[in-house]
Amino acid sequence: MDRRDYLKITGLGLGSAAVLGWGFNRLNLFGKENYYLQGNYAPVKEIITEDNLEVIGSIPKELSGLYLRNGPNPIGSPNVKKYHWFTGEGMLHGVRIDEGKAIWYRNNLVGSGNNTHVISHAGKIYAIAEAGDKPVEIDQQLNSLDTDPFHGTLETGFTAHTKFDSQSKELHGITYAFPRGSYEAHYVVIGKDGRVKRTDLLPLSSGTMLHECAITENYVLVLDLSITFALSKLAKGYFPFSWNDDHQARIGLLNRKSDNVEIKWFNIDPCYFFHTVNAYEDQQGNVVVDAMRYQRLFDEDWNGPFTEFPSLLTRWTLNLANGNASEQQLDDLPAEFPRMHPHLNGKFNRFGYLLGTGLGVKPDFGRIIKYDFVNKSNEVYELGEGKEGAESVFIPSENQKNEDDGYLMTYVYDKASDKSNLVIFHAQNIKSGPIAQIKLPQRVPFGFHGSWVPA
Ligand SMILES: [Fe+2]
Repeated sequence: MDRRDYLKITGLGLGSAAVLGWGFNRLNLFGKENYYLQGNYAPVKEIITEDNLEVIGSIPKELSGLYLRNGPNPIGSPNVKKYHWFTGEGMLHGVRIDEGKAIWYRNNLVGSGNNTHVISHAGKIYAIAEAGDKPVEIDQQLNSLDTDPFHGTLETGFTAHTKFDSQSKELHGITYAFPRGSYEAHYVVIGKDGRVKRTDLLPLSSGTMLHECAITENYVLVLDLSITFALSKLAKGYFPFSWNDDHQARIGLLNRKSDNVEIKWFNIDPCYFFHTVNAYEDQQGNVVVDAMRYQRLFDEDWNGPFTEFPSLLTRWTLNLANGNASEQQLDDLPAEFPRMHPHLNGKFNRFGYLLGTGLGVKPDFGRIIKYDFVNKSNEVYELGEGKEGAESVFIPSENQKNEDDGYLMTYVYDKASDKSNLVIFHAQNIKSGPIAQIKLPQRVPFGFHGSWVPA
C-alpha cells in the first residue's frame, strides 16, 4: 500500500459521542445525507481572532493559560457519501485566559492531518493523531511550526492519546503506522526532556486500530480490540477500519519497567473502546481498566462511530494470577470523552468526567456527567435546551485538597445563537451549573480532544 495514499484518508480521532439509537441504522434515519457534515458537525469557514471576550459569571483568578481543542474541519467539498468524521482537516480552537480575564479566542488550521488531540509536553505544544502523521508543533498563537517533533527523535508513527506519568514526567504511547506498506505497532516513551527515550516494536500484526493506551505502575496496556484495518474499504475510498468478528479482542500487558517486549494477553468479549478513563493496579495485584465500551461499531455505519451502539462505562479486571479477565458495566448512561485528574494516570482515581450522549434516538451531547468510582454513582448536569457540550478538561486547583477540587472546561454549542461558549464549572459542584461562560464569536464544531496549557 502506498503510504501517502493512506495518509490522505486518515487522521483518526474520536470526539464527542452521539447516539442515534442503538440498533438503528443511520441511513434509515437520515436518508442519504452524511450526518457528520451537518449541524454543528459542519466545518466553520472563517479563521477569526477576537480580543476581550464577554464573560457571563466570573473566571477564577487562579486560571491563567491557554485552552486548546482539536477537531476535524473538512475543507472544500468532501464526498458526502464517503466522508468519515475522523478524516477532516485538523482545526484548533483556543481561548487565552489571564488571571481570570478572557483575553482572546482564535481558531486556526493545523498544517497536516493531525486533527485529533493537542497536548503540551516539556515546554512544547503538539497537535497529534494516530496512524502515521508526524506530530506538528503549535505555538501559543495556534500557528503550526515547521519543526521536527520531539527534537527530531521520533522514528515511528505517533498516537492520538499519550499517557502522562506524573512521577517520571514521561509520556507513554502505543503507536501504529504503515511505514513500509505493512502494519507496525510500537511502544514509545517521550522523556521529561521532550525527546524519545524508548521505542519498542510490538509483536502485533493484526492491523488493529490502536486509538489509545493506558498505563499502570508497572505496565502499559495494549488495547487489541475488534476493529482492524480493512483493505476492502480503503479500495472503495472509505475510511479503512472496520468491525472484525474474526479478530479476538484482548488487552495486553507490557511491562514498562523491563526491556523485554513480551506481552501478557487477556482475552475479552468482542468490543471496542476508543477511550479509557484510567487503569491501575489494585491491592490484590489485579490490573483494573475503566473505559467507554461499544458493543459494535464501524460495521454498518461507514461515516462515524455513534449510530450502531452507545458507549457505556465498563470495567475490566485482569487477574494476573489466573490469566482471566472479567467485565462489569459500571453505569447505564451512554457517554464518551472521559477525562480525569491529569496527574492520576496509572493510579487509583475516584472521579471521572464524561460527556453524556443521551438515551434517545437523536444524537444529543446535552449533559456533563461526573462519575464517582467509589460510590459507583453519577452526578449529571443538563446543559439545557438546544445546548450541547464536548469533552471536559479537568484543571486541578492550585492548592488542591481533594481529587475533584478544580475546574471543568468545555466548549458548549448553543443552537439558538449558532455560536459556542467556553464554559467553566467547579468540578466539586457541577450541579449548580457554570461559574463562567466565555462568549465566542463563532461556533466550535463538535470535535475531539484538547488540553489546558498553564501559563
Ligand atoms: Fe480519542
